[in-house]
Amino acid sequence: MNSLVDPSPEAEPRFSLHDFAPVQESFEDALVQGLAAPQKAIPARFLYDEAGSRLFDRICELPEYYATRTELKILTDQAAEIAAAIGPDIALLEFGAGSSQKARLLLDALDRPAAYEPIDVSREHLVQLAEEIADGYPGLAVRAICADYTQPLELPDSETRRRRAGFFPGSTIGNLTETDARAFLSGWAGQLGRDGLMVVGVALRAPQAIVLPAYDDAQGVTARFTANVLVRANRELGADFDVAAFRHTPDYDEATGKMTIHLTSLEAQTVHVAGRSFTFAERERLHVEDSNKYAVGDFQALARSAGYVAETVWVDPRELFSVHVLRVA
Ligand code: TRP
Repeated sequence: MNSLVDPSPEAEPRFSLHDFAPVQESFEDALVQGLAAPQKAIPARFLYDEAGSRLFDRICELPEYYATRTELKILTDQAAEIAAAIGPDIALLEFGAGSSQKARLLLDALDRPAAYEPIDVSREHLVQLAEEIADGYPGLAVRAICADYTQPLELPDSETRRRRAGFFPGSTIGNLTETDARAFLSGWAGQLGRDGLMVVGVALRAPQAIVLPAYDDAQGVTARFTANVLVRANRELGADFDVAAFRHTPDYDEATGKMTIHLTSLEAQTVHVAGRSFTFAERERLHVEDSNKYAVGDFQALARSAGYVAETVWVDPRELFSVHVLRVA
């Protein structure tokens, strides 16, 4: 960590910002490298520019996209039980500056939470979330950590060695490969320490007729969301993707819960980015995201293999989403 900055020098400092100054690969470098690979790919984090983030908010409102509202319902209805499983006086470490709505549901229910510590690479999102929480919870220590949570880092230590609970909602863990999900969990097990907890939201393996429409909605919002990364490349990098010549193609295997999302080239074509050309064959696929679903038992087995005891799990009545409390073994 290289600096501890008072984010608002004029006003009362309402939260601390611990800035690890994460270095992010540029969109241009990532895109050129991804297009040069044998299996073409664009890292999914580039989906979320301003237009992409707006489209993602619209996805969360779609009738077909059940994940967000189901997770919120579990966190709302089971808040007291989840809080009891976590226990008093905890520092809540959130991976990614998501919607403050989810963190609030936990903070409201927890017994005397000691601190809220969101970690995010985007300083802007992070500061906004820290501000929102600090405003809503005057007594709470809010420590914003600007860093890439997939890399090892030394947490800013609180005065006393508090018990920590990681919070990883949104089934973001499903956006990692199973290998990366295990590495994420086991890496943080060491950081959270003995008696440390992980609270993880995981979308469940469910029938194709339910899962697939959530990623291929009737209004085409999700298709616009993924195609937006090409629009963004054209605008920001001067690329020349013919956006209409790519189709949003999610694939879901009901037996394994594995979900992949590609943009598929509808014809043989050549695209230029940063002075380089890349050819697509007809039907060649450009990978944009994985969104893996897990059966409850399979996720618990993964957690055990990463050094946790699977303590408690809450599931909605339709068995579409799960919230797990894991304890470091
Ligand atoms: N974490 C979300 C999910 O996997 C993100 C998401 C929803 C998404 N719809 C998408 C990512 C479509 C790419 C494309 O459910």
